[in-house]
Amino acid sequence: MSASLNSATAATACTAPVDPACAEPLPVLGRDVTVPLVTGGEVTYAALDYAASAPALQRVWDDVAAYAPYYGSVHRGAGYLSQLSTDLFEQSRATVAEFLDCRPADQVVFTRSTTDSLNLLAAVLPADCQVFVFETEHHASLLPWRDARVTYLNAPRTPGQAVATLERALADRDPYGPALVCVTGASNVTGELWPVKELAAAAHAHGARIVLDAAQLAPHHPVSVRELDVDWVAFSGHKLYAPFGSGVLAGRADWLQEAEPYLAGGGASRKVARREDGGVDVEWHTTAARHEAGSPNVIGVYSIASACRALNEAGFDQLVAREQHLVARVREGLAEVPAVRVLSLFGDDAPRVGVISFVVDGWNSSHFAAALSAEYGIGVRDGLFCAHPLVRTLLGSEPQAQGECGAPEAAPGETSLNAIRVSFGAGTPDEHVDRFVRAVKELVADGAKWQYRTEDGRCVPAV
Ligand SMILES: Cc1ncc(COP(=O)(O)O)c(C=O)c1O
Repeated sequence: MSASLNSATAATACTAPVDPACAEPLPVLGRDVTVPLVTGGEVTYAALDYAASAPALQRVWDDVAAYAPYYGSVHRGAGYLSQLSTDLFEQSRATVAEFLDCRPADQVVFTRSTTDSLNLLAAVLPADCQVFVFETEHHASLLPWRDARVTYLNAPRTPGQAVATLERALADRDPYGPALVCVTGASNVTGELWPVKELAAAAHAHGARIVLDAAQLAPHHPVSVRELDVDWVAFSGHKLYAPFGSGVLAGRADWLQEAEPYLAGGGASRKVARREDGGVDVEWHTTAARHEAGSPNVIGVYSIASACRALNEAGFDQLVAREQHLVARVREGLAEVPAVRVLSLFGDDAPRVGVISFVVDGWNSSHFAAALSAEYGIGVRDGLFCAHPLVRTLLGSEPQAQGECGAPEAAPGETSLNAIRVSFGAGTPDEHVDRFVRAVKELVADGAKWQYRTEDGRCVPAV
């Protein structure tokens, strides 16, 4: 499995002859859950907020259920189940390394999430490391570096501009000190793919390293550390159909081995002894365990490995083809509604995953999202999606309090204060995106059928 995410090839990275109309969604938990509508009756819930958290794959749930009776402590028990759990934990590391097409010397560290992974990397930066990050990043990629010498790069409007902006910033940097570039693979706001391979080449040409935030990329697209030539990659299990509280930081071992452990405690230490002066001497592990102190989340880790296997077996060619078929359906449907403006940094032709944000003229986004839920049983997200600078750039709006529910927050043609995001993936049936497009058209044409009010800053049905 491999992929090239440079802007020229991303759209065609998966080109196996798949007839998307024939491909079935992968079975996920919750696919038969029904929810009540304010207008009466019940419908099957349309989970269209995969970018926040994707439902568990049925296969992941089955694997976890099969393992659960054998659950035991990892790296610290003599019993059979502890041995078995330790084996599964370490095999999961190997599965993830294979899924990411890591280099032989790379380390896979298990964390809680992408946020945790990037904070771990921030904690092990060498002294005087310069960090370069685009202002368009998710807060998890934007904020962990604030104790370092960080340069925030302006939002580019094309993939080529992103590379040129980075090149310019790196050319001005102290050429002898360590440097790190942090970049997303796919935007959690626009779904657009970033030119990761080209950014990695630019970083390396200037002696810098690069970490890929693959939180939104890995669930939708194959990721090859080797081919993209990134130094680290981070992702979260709960966005990869494995919602059991684990994440991954994989990549170069040296900075990780040279730094103090992220957490101090059992599991990270190889030898601890009292000193004569009353203190304590510690010898830390130099393996991934150095940054995994405490009892690890073996179920979370095992579920990530299960998801990696399931996605690989389903085949990314097939998954990408099916998802692109859904992306086209949604984009074509929204394009038929003049009141809808889809948010984009790189333009209509940019390759993208199944994450689409938009605003509707004359609608408060929270009101619109509440009506999609209450009247159609569709779960989307509204707001600034933990990427405040990017969404404000795309909306052309200033930070402000959100408008009152029910009251249009922006008149037609005016800027909106926040946005609506629809996102989907391997478990999404056509019916969910078709219902969504129909709902958007009906709400815009006829208005909401119900009354809504504001409660704790959110729109909710009035009754
Ligand atoms: C691009 C991106 N990076 C990082 C994160 C943070 O992921 P987590 O909340 O799992 O730590 C998200 C979450 O939405 C994201 O979309």
